Amino acid sequence: MSAPSSSPAATGAKADRGAFSGRTAFIFAAIGSAVGLGNIWRFPAVAYENGGGAFILPYLVALLTAGIPLLFLDYAIGHRWRGSAPAAWRRFRRWTEFIGWWQVLIALIIALYYALILAWATNYTIFSFDQRWGDDAAGFFGEYTQALGGQDATISFDVVPAVLISLIAVWAAIIVVMALGVQRGIAASSVIFIPLLVIMFVILVVRSLFLPGAIDGLDAFFKPHWGALLDPGVWIAAYGQIFFSLSVAFGIMLTYASYLKKKTDLTGSGLVVGFANSGFEILCGIGVFSALGFMAQAQGVAIDEVVTAGVGLAFIAFPTIISEAPAGALIGVLFFGSLVLAGFTSLVSIVEVIIAAIQDKFGLARIPSTLWVCIPLAVVSTALFSTTMGLPLLDVMDKWVNEYGIVAAAAVSTIIVTYVLRGLPTLRDHLNHRGSFKIGLVWFACVGVIAPVVLGVSLTLSTLELLRAEGTYEDYPGWFVLVFGWLMAIGLVVVAIGLSLIPWPAGSNMHKNDSDGDPIAPEVEAGLGLVPSPEASTPHELRS
Ligand code: ALA
Repeated sequence: MSAPSSSPAATGAKADRGAFSGRTAFIFAAIGSAVGLGNIWRFPAVAYENGGGAFILPYLVALLTAGIPLLFLDYAIGHRWRGSAPAAWRRFRRWTEFIGWWQVLIALIIALYYALILAWATNYTIFSFDQRWGDDAAGFFGEYTQALGGQDATISFDVVPAVLISLIAVWAAIIVVMALGVQRGIAASSVIFIPLLVIMFVILVVRSLFLPGAIDGLDAFFKPHWGALLDPGVWIAAYGQIFFSLSVAFGIMLTYASYLKKKTDLTGSGLVVGFANSGFEILCGIGVFSALGFMAQAQGVAIDEVVTAGVGLAFIAFPTIISEAPAGALIGVLFFGSLVLAGFTSLVSIVEVIIAAIQDKFGLARIPSTLWVCIPLAVVSTALFSTTMGLPLLDVMDKWVNEYGIVAAAAVSTIIVTYVLRGLPTLRDHLNHRGSFKIGLVWFACVGVIAPVVLGVSLTLSTLELLRAEGTYEDYPGWFVLVFGWLMAIGLVVVAIGLSLIPWPAGSNMHKNDSDGDPIAPEVEAGLGLVPSPEASTPHELRS
């Protein structure tokens, strides 16, 4: 790491970063990233708890004012500066590199616990065949995870063998796909898994709709509680859901866009991805609540007595439904199999943010960068999350990194891009140059005004809420929340700033031409700052 960061750009060497074969491969990969546990495991419960049918309003507002505009922002930065999050931000303006590392670290934390849910879902797909949880899904889940937690519980990191084995299997599969590279690994897995997921989920929804009580479930899900719209927490939940679900602001879409050919329609692709993700999300709500309606009717109780959030919904309510429904094994395999497929393609995208950063930083080839990232990640994820503390850690880390970290990173990046770098016109021109859907003032207003304001308010309110929660959040001990919640979230920013100060080695991709062999914004590296026109450094033969 001895080369000064001011080394001249574009040595003539070509960065070996990999690329998508075309727009279709990219769209599949981007949908694969967006459609994940957030859609199946998170959205139905978030929507139900935040106003039911009325939630659709904040959800759509969040999608249109922040989700899609920030998706375009991610695409523009990644595609214009053709690099991983730290490289692209650095090329944008050198001192903003810390935002890229912040996004890498957020992805790292999410990857650690996301793999755990995938491991549980993998086991539960197998358990579905013989409905191993018997009559007591909650008791079985407790035994299966051996989860500790609560003020009085002993904190201990004892290994849970069943979880350990499936977590190792998840990481092994991730390593294979990541090592295969951008097209043969990331895109190919999405091209296979996403259609399969849609087929499986549609069958599940149709099956669930025909269960007795399904209509009551749908009624409960869609019934609007308009009063909820006055609760700022509902709006925070909508923005948080959109960010997590669309995979914006943690570097994923930025990284994926950097693998696209220069002549790609970014805005048209973004709309396809945004609406496909939300469409699937609504479908998940329908499927899940039809099944819950059946469960309530079978047990002779009201729907709100059977609905539990997140983990409870997937790993306690669903197994109960599977046990009670005719052809329950089929429902189980379809539901948990869908979780695995959706989660896998999302985890791939989350891990890619980290791999791309390391690859760019050290100019590494695909396989070494995969191994350098995935092996330590798999070891830490397995060591921490296959233990009796797996569930409490997941709970606290998800809450802080998601509702606090992602929203904070998004707020900081929109403010810096709009007001400090004044970069929106450049990015708009870049998006419009190839985009089938042209953007302009409305996009400026969304990225520069609406998003920062809403994100700032959300951040303030959730900070206050989380401050109040310290020591009592889900009854976890104060120190546990402090370490794995607050210190983790704040530590990410500090470490990100530290990483951004480390010079880029001479062999890094920062000083090479892009994967096509074209120079990347050499004027930026030469210290001239923001490029006024996105076409300024695009070779003539690549222009229209
Ligand atoms: N977008 C991914 C999900 O919804 C992270 O789970």
